[in-house]
Amino acid sequence: MFDLSGQVALITGSSRGIGYAAARALGGQGAVVVINGRDPAALAQAATELRGEGITVHALPFDMSDIDQAVKAIDEVLKTVGRIDIFFANAGIQHRELLLSFPLREFERVIFANLTSQWALGRHIAQGMASHGYGRIVFTGSVTALLGRQGVTAYTAAKAALHGLVRQWAAELSESGITVNAIAPGYIKTELTKNLWDDAKFTAWLQDRVPQKRWGVPDDLASALVFMAARESGFVTGQILAVDGGMSSTM
Ligand SMILES: NC(=O)c1ccc[n+]([C@@H]2O[C@H](COP(=O)([O-])OP(=O)(O)OC[C@H]3O[C@@H](n4cnc5c(N)ncnc54)[C@H](OP(=O)(O)O)[C@@H]3O)[C@@H](O)[C@H]2O)c1
Repeated sequence: MFDLSGQVALITGSSRGIGYAAARALGGQGAVVVINGRDPAALAQAATELRGEGITVHALPFDMSDIDQAVKAIDEVLKTVGRIDIFFANAGIQHRELLLSFPLREFERVIFANLTSQWALGRHIAQGMASHGYGRIVFTGSVTALLGRQGVTAYTAAKAALHGLVRQWAAELSESGITVNAIAPGYIKTELTKNLWDDAKFTAWLQDRVPQKRWGVPDDLASALVFMAARESGFVTGQILAVDGGMSSTM
């Protein structure tokens, strides 16, 4: 089960963090992986490491917030890989500031990156998947879309909208052979959360709040993603799976 040989996976935001762990996991199951990020040097380094593990990798630098550039890059790589079977729409950004002083331009930037561009790139890829009658789309949501938290108003709004989009796309894409699901990570140790895991007070709070009493690591998400990306999970669609050490199901 869960053999991905012969399949092609595009993972946005995969030069590090959750996306990199996902590329390793999908590649480890036999998929050809197309990795992405904005920094070509970091992406080349990640590609070298993955190739060292025997994974077939294409490095595709683009900024997901520049939709024209991103679509062009995706169409270009399609000439080489043929089609995309698995799309992990993972890249995301954060801006932390309290609501009453949160700048509108930051709200718009985060919403555009974390929602609008996910919609536009996902739809572009879904059009190709629909023409082949098969596809697996997985979005990266967040527990902050399930539980409110101070200081992340734009991020939470975008991720909650993504959760809604998962259900709506499941309704619309099922007849095309495409499943649409999301993982909702809890607190995972990556560059995105570095200011939090550098903060001993926050970590103490987290260890008290999470039943498993620890930070997550990117590899914690890999098995959930492989499951959602696999042919065998074909009857699972429109679902959001929290991978959070129990945080969102307990008080
Ligand atoms: N870490 C957590 O606790 C947590 C919790 C819930 C949800 N998430 C979500 O998980 C996803 C991955 O987060 P992470 O923690 O792994 O973050 P990360 O360690 O900061 O990695 C982000 C990745 O995305 C790339 N990226 C950032 N902006 C991009 C853009 N505009 N276009 C293309 N690539 C871009 C980065 O490379 P470049 O900088 O080179 O572009 C990097 O490869 C995000 O959607 C995040 O919201 C994370």
